[in-house]
Amino acid sequence: MRKSHSVSRREFLKIAGVGAVGLASSKLLPGLPFVGKVLAQSDEVPDLEVQLRAVESEVSILSGNPTQVWMYQGEVLQGDPSSLQSIPDSYLGPIFRVRQGQHIRIHFVNELSEASIIHWHGLLLPEAMDAHPGYAIASGETYTYDFEVVNRAGTYWYHPHPHGSTATQVYNGLAGLFIVSDDEESTLSLPANGYDIPLVFQDRSFDADNQLVYISGGMMTQMMTEMMGFLGDNILVNGKADFELDVETRAYRLRLLNGSNFRMLKLGWEDGTPLTVIGTDGGLLETPVERPYVTLSPGERVELWADFNGRTIGSQLLLKSLPFSGVEMGGMMMGGMEMPETTTLPQGEEYTVLKVNIVQESTETLTLPERLSTIQRYALSDAINADAPRTFEIAMINEAWSLNGRTFQMDAVADDEIVQANSLEVWEFVNVVNGGGMGNMPGHDMGNMGGNDDVMTEDQMAHPMHVHGVQFQILERTVDDAFREGWETISAGYVDEGWKDTVLLMPGERVKLLMRFGSDLGLYVFHCHNLEHEDLGLMRNYRVE
Ligand code: C2O
Ligand code: CU
Repeated sequence: MRKSHSVSRREFLKIAGVGAVGLASSKLLPGLPFVGKVLAQSDEVPDLEVQLRAVESEVSILSGNPTQVWMYQGEVLQGDPSSLQSIPDSYLGPIFRVRQGQHIRIHFVNELSEASIIHWHGLLLPEAMDAHPGYAIASGETYTYDFEVVNRAGTYWYHPHPHGSTATQVYNGLAGLFIVSDDEESTLSLPANGYDIPLVFQDRSFDADNQLVYISGGMMTQMMTEMMGFLGDNILVNGKADFELDVETRAYRLRLLNGSNFRMLKLGWEDGTPLTVIGTDGGLLETPVERPYVTLSPGERVELWADFNGRTIGSQLLLKSLPFSGVEMGGMMMGGMEMPETTTLPQGEEYTVLKVNIVQESTETLTLPERLSTIQRYALSDAINADAPRTFEIAMINEAWSLNGRTFQMDAVADDEIVQANSLEVWEFVNVVNGGGMGNMPGHDMGNMGGNDDVMTEDQMAHPMHVHGVQFQILERTVDDAFREGWETISAGYVDEGWKDTVLLMPGERVKLLMRFGSDLGLYVFHCHNLEHEDLGLMRNYRVE
């Protein structure tokens, strides 16, 4: 029998030196709609109990002065210490390595000077664990997560989610990976341990003292960056500026996360070797697929099988981000105004994101499995709204981003944002109505909220849409003719075969998704994972009834 939780809880208080462990019921910010909810914290001893503090600290990123960052620091209070792997000299939070079915308890201690809350991106969790931005706790408080990992094996992640300051908190360094394994995956001979490499890509800018620079420049530039998104001048890998991956001549499993606020990546090996993709947001594909390059937008993950067998010792292979057409903001035209260059790494140009050094011979020869997992495909005919997708149009209205004309409000749920527990639905996101137009900018009123053709200009923006509480399947993509040409080169890098929780919509694009809601009732959000857009309202609630 598992022993009662009350003892370990008191122990935790002692270990953590925390005066009060706040539960969601008692530690909500005033005025939010969640007051009165009581967390069902189970009495059993969890498989893993962790204290995760968000702290202000400093790390050495560039040579010279250390950089002030915000970061998660973790400590295992109970369970296998190797379930939490810190990345040395990085601001990134510890990597969780857990198994499906495990019971996890995490005490999040907010030692920042402002409110925050953690969202477990991609995990299937009840509302209070998810956690909706309304659960943000004030500085000095603790929020306890207590949940079972029901997700299949995959590369998930965690980051802050307080409304209006997600972009700055992530930019300051708060983020980490949450890797799940399961029995199905364990039957495969995939590269493991030192050959299973997480790679988190993020862009950051620094000043002359090595401190992070976020939105800067003149007032107009700042305003535009807030609306469109921030691009940094350096690509950091796992929080490091000079990251190089030393490999042996054998196969690796590379788990890639784009943890940038806004930057999209179009990843390709410099020598034209196709990428072998074995997994997406929600875990392994059924079978490996090849792509000439892979698009990876903020929030998305992709897993690669990278075999360096046959490469020359001493050689170097670069992973590049290839040019995006029509969506880079540096120097582009916006609503008739020439925008200043805001980054030395425009998305419209090619740049290196990862250097791989082939350093050592290996005799290990793993074969890429032909079959990786079983994915039960949803049938459109099983959806309760097969003929009438639930449609959400992305638009900018009055300097804020919106979905179906509505911007985020903490507790608002419109009639078309209510779904039934356990139901299978078709959702459609639409990025063709004045998507990135500076519609009603002061003095630049384009007066064009009607979705007519002449607003579909090159200033349309891309939006990676993320839905909490589900993993979905991509049913169909279509693109407006005016955008087809650029879209075709980008869409060759989509990997739509597997489970997804974040889907990129390029300008002019519509995407239909099949998703089944869980049995946990409550309020969840869906939003653009361009964090500047999210903070500027491109997020809405949906309620499971
Ligand atoms: Cu990764 Cu709601 O976010
Ligand atoms: Cu967006």
